[in-house]
Amino acid sequence: MGFAGTTVWIIGASEGIGAALARALAQAGAQLILSARNKAALDDLAARCGAAAQVLPVDLATAGSLAQAAATIGPGSLDAVICTAALYDPSRVEDMDPETTARLVAVNLLGSFEVARLAPPLLRDGGQLVLFGSVAGYFGLPGGQPYSATKAAVNNLAESLRIELAPRVDVRLVCPGFVATRLTAKNDFTMPAIITPDDAAEAVIRGLQGRAFELHFPKRFTWAIKALRALPYALSLRLTRRLGVKPDGR
Ligand SMILES: NC(=O)c1ccc[n+]([C@@H]2O[C@H](COP(=O)([O-])OP(=O)(O)OC[C@H]3O[C@@H](n4cnc5c(N)ncnc54)[C@H](OP(=O)(O)O)[C@@H]3O)[C@@H](O)[C@H]2O)c1
Repeated sequence: MGFAGTTVWIIGASEGIGAALARALAQAGAQLILSARNKAALDDLAARCGAAAQVLPVDLATAGSLAQAAATIGPGSLDAVICTAALYDPSRVEDMDPETTARLVAVNLLGSFEVARLAPPLLRDGGQLVLFGSVAGYFGLPGGQPYSATKAAVNNLAESLRIELAPRVDVRLVCPGFVATRLTAKNDFTMPAIITPDDAAEAVIRGLQGRAFELHFPKRFTWAIKALRALPYALSLRLTRRLGVKPDGR
């Protein structure tokens, strides 16, 4: 679909890819509902997007917050719901802090379940529900938990939803490679094929106008990780063993 005249709810709009999507969709003529926790950032973004943007703060980690926001939106009134909201705090499993892990699971996974439960009634027939998984969910790389397990789960959730909600709702899964945002600013390694949030937003918008279920980009990186996943474990685990090894040899 073209986005002129459509109404799109972006959950995770205050930063990164969500904010870039908001700017690009406003430019394309969409009306926007912008959600995340940081209201000041959302207000700034709404001012940049013009009169067509409305701010609706949401905290996916707070029980009832998404439901309260959803109750203010009319049934069948949206053309798309896009959830980019997620937290990232990668570590080795033995170093994981239980509270951080619970927060990541609450936002990335339980938050996605809530979006999947509450968004469909708000969408018009044929509307799009767009979940952000990740290439990180294709294969469990060392040093990437608990984030990558939550993203594997979101990839899996989107597959189930795609069939469960068809044909009334057009479910899409977005799996980016590396995008330069505050999320990846936590990485202390060179990120191959990294792209800008604006490039990521452009790839998403182009993909949503096509028919593919999964939008993955940049292809030069995502195909390599897909190939890793397709290998027998005897080979793929040997390859991933080289990754995430600390200087002290752990
Ligand atoms: N960047 C990458 O390389 C990359 C690669 C693969 C997949 N992805 C996925 O792409 C999506 C966007 O990532 P990004 O890089 O744009 O991340 P980001 O810059 O950190 O933005 C994440 C967004 O999620 C919101 N958020 C976080 N916790 C929330 C909560 N409890 N309730 C509501 N909103 C919350 C943040 O807003 P507030 O802080 O204001 O709440 C922010 O708007 C994520 O799903 C990520 O997993 C990113």
